[in-house]
Amino acid sequence: MTGTRNLHRFAVLTSIATFVLIIAGGLVTSTESGLSVPDWPNTYGRFMFAFPPDQMVGGILYEHSHRLIASFVGLLTLILGIWLWRREDRRWVRMLGLAAILMVIAQGILGGLTVLFLLPTAISVSHAMLAQTFFIVLASIALFTSPWWQEEQQVHGENGVPIVRLSLAAASAVYVQLILGALMRHTHSGLAVPDFPFAYGQIIPSLSPDAVGRYNKYLIASGIRIAADDPVTSPQIIIHMLHRIWAVVVSIPVVWTSIRCVKYKQLSRFAYALTGLLIVQIVLGAMTVLSEKSVVITTAHVATGALLLVTTMLLALRAIRLWGFPPARAPIAVAEREPIAREATA
Ligand code: HEM
Ligand code: HEM
Repeated sequence: MTGTRNLHRFAVLTSIATFVLIIAGGLVTSTESGLSVPDWPNTYGRFMFAFPPDQMVGGILYEHSHRLIASFVGLLTLILGIWLWRREDRRWVRMLGLAAILMVIAQGILGGLTVLFLLPTAISVSHAMLAQTFFIVLASIALFTSPWWQEEQQVHGENGVPIVRLSLAAASAVYVQLILGALMRHTHSGLAVPDFPFAYGQIIPSLSPDAVGRYNKYLIASGIRIAADDPVTSPQIIIHMLHRIWAVVVSIPVVWTSIRCVKYKQLSRFAYALTGLLIVQIVLGAMTVLSEKSVVITTAHVATGALLLVTTMLLALRAIRLWGFPPARAPIAVAEREPIAREATA
């Protein structure tokens, strides 16, 4: 066994802290506090750690505490990377630790640029995507250093082949949904379609100039927007609809993977979690629209999205561990495998 149990525990702790940071970041966007602290790396001209706590009020509370939590996660990631470098035998796991350090630095710089360039869409979307990609990397390190990963042996047979492919398809589909969600959030398209499950009372809304004009009148009459707001545009409606349609597409590999995994002891908990998270996420997505982007609900939607992404990714990695990649159809010689043999109970 290469890693130590404490190293694994530390990787789990760093992953949990990152999840808390994603919630904190989600709150910054949901409360529109991104520019409450206009400078970076200082906070109102002061060294960030010397900023007086009694001045952390309103949006500054969200933005500055996000920066403080990010610094803490940065420190944890640095310790994890160094620990892996010193104690981990597998070169690829050490490289993953190094990648995590580079990612957290890039993420911090992106966060700073977001502020300095006044929240440009491209940088804010990249910051949102890198946040969850970084979360995946940390959770994977936690998995790779776990006793399960290091003791588990590959099983073989036809059964695993579809699970490996399906779980990879599910993870990729959820990742695409993250990109669409981030685009939705940072192009302000979240309420470009204000009703659910219909869209302006239709299944697919018309995008003719007349129809878009009517939608804008409706949005102002119903108080969702005020006349001084920029009008909703067709591209915003398209982004919004793509996110909804992709939710249906995502559900197929996610539910299918769950069904296939339920009968495997090692994977059944993941299977239940996956379907549960998908249902909660779709309900939260609908509530985000119907509550006109309540801060708590919208942030919960971002957080549950991150959990769904990490769960599908970890499931795919576990399936690869069990059946190999590309998945093995033929039995693998026992001598090629690691010590403890366990059969996947079909
Ligand atoms: C490890 C480091 C970091 C992580 C994982 C992280 C994560 C996040 C997440 C998940 C969001 C929400 C994105 C969304 O809901 O679409 C966010 C927003 C934000 N973060 Fe970070 N962040 C980090 C570091 C920083 C740093 C150092 C700054 C420095 C200023 C920063 C500034 C911001 C700002 C201004 C927003 C709001 C962006 C907007 O509303 O357009 N972040 N962050
Ligand atoms: C598989 C299902 C879904 C997943 C994985 C998912 C994921 C996400 C993620 C990760 C974000 C935020 C990205 C970010 O900036 O960090 C987001 C935003 C959003 N999602 Fe979903 N979503 C799903 C389904 C839905 C559904 C069914 C709706 C219903 C309309 C919906 C409505 C929204 C809205 C309105 C936003 C933007 C909120 C804002 O503007 O602040 N989502 N989604």
